[in-house]
Amino acid sequence: MTVLVTGGTGYIGSHAIVELQNAGHQVLALDNLCNSSRESLLRVEQITGKPVPFVQGDIRDASLLSRVFRDYSITAVMHFAGLKAVGESVVRPLEYYDVNVNGTLMLAKAMNEAGVFNLVFSSSATVYGSPESMPINEQCAVGGTTNPYGTSKLMVEKMLQDVAASDERWSIALLRYFNPVGAHESGLIGEDPSGVPNNLLPYVTQVAVGQRERLSVFGGDYPTEDGTGVRDYIHVVDLAVGHLRAIEYIAARKGVSIFNLGTGRGYSVLEIVAAFERVTGRKVPYAIMPRRAGDIAECWSDPARAKQELGWVARRSLEQMLADAWRWQSQNPNGFQR
Ligand code: NAD
Ligand code: UD1
Repeated sequence: MTVLVTGGTGYIGSHAIVELQNAGHQVLALDNLCNSSRESLLRVEQITGKPVPFVQGDIRDASLLSRVFRDYSITAVMHFAGLKAVGESVVRPLEYYDVNVNGTLMLAKAMNEAGVFNLVFSSSATVYGSPESMPINEQCAVGGTTNPYGTSKLMVEKMLQDVAASDERWSIALLRYFNPVGAHESGLIGEDPSGVPNNLLPYVTQVAVGQRERLSVFGGDYPTEDGTGVRDYIHVVDLAVGHLRAIEYIAARKGVSIFNLGTGRGYSVLEIVAAFERVTGRKVPYAIMPRRAGDIAECWSDPARAKQELGWVARRSLEQMLADAWRWQSQNPNGFQR
């Protein structure tokens, strides 16, 4: 296959390219570099020993997309490009709907025109809103999103379902990620958030490396075992392998397939802190603070469908996620130095 990877220089996209290349697929990375660096692909080349063709540009640029589909024999698309900061989406909703919804619309139109109908889309567990019970399977209701980021993912899911219903040539996988963490075991690529990290793991590693004083634990009074929020953390390499399985799966099928990508196991914030200290030998000072608006108490997946249909399970342990996140952060204290 020749796979167009939008958002290919980003955190998850770069790990997906490693798995695609290692499996013998051709790739073309497309990214406007608004939240990533070209350096990540040079690192991917070091890992795989193969060049990564790259086009710098915006997924909302129709003429660029038609050029890309004309000039390269793309057979499938992994669509990672998008904006993902929840808090920012509340402040700049138009930007989020433009990039995430309109951007996907432009991409789907270009695919349609080029006769490319295989698409893997980065969705999120956030589409489930505040589920009543755990674990979450794909039959659970979606909706009740509390911010424009989450709503944009839900809107794209609905749009792609309508597109597939209108034309049976489409084959689409909607992958609902739980909480991606960690980094490639080489320490060469990883998550490189700009500014103050919003997500737990990058914050923890920046505290451990001495860039930030202490972790604020958002809420110590949730109805969970130790009062802190529980999430299903998944190693980014397992997630990338899940994409590989999904793109191979949809090549032999039509319509929309929806998969949770998670481990099926939840850990609290304090469990993460304790495990990180154990694995790295570093202290992570923290303080319990008020809850963060929009957070739910707990969230973990039922990943049975992905196991059954894709033959995929998340294999890497929490210890491996934390050790790999730490290797990346300590070897690259300033990320890719954009
Ligand atoms: P990321 O920011 O590292 O990667 C996204 C990439 O898209 C970046 O390289 C950015 O430069 C690029 N991009 C943004 N707007 C673009 C545009 N208009 N045109 C071209 N490129 C553009 O984020 P990530 O963590 O790798 O996330 C990838 C996808 O997975 C996103 O769609 C995100 O919403 C989704 N997702 C991420 C998580 C997570 O925790 N990381 C969880 C669920 C879903
Ligand atoms: C967040 C987003 C979600 C997105 C996901 C992956 C919100 C409300 N949700 O999920 O839409 O798909 O990231 O990008 O932002 N925590 C702290 N201190 C911190 C950071 C986090 O205690 O400094 C806690 C949170 O309260 C939560 C857990 O750690 O209990 C995980 O938080 P985070 O990494 O931000 O992910 P989510 O909130 O699950």
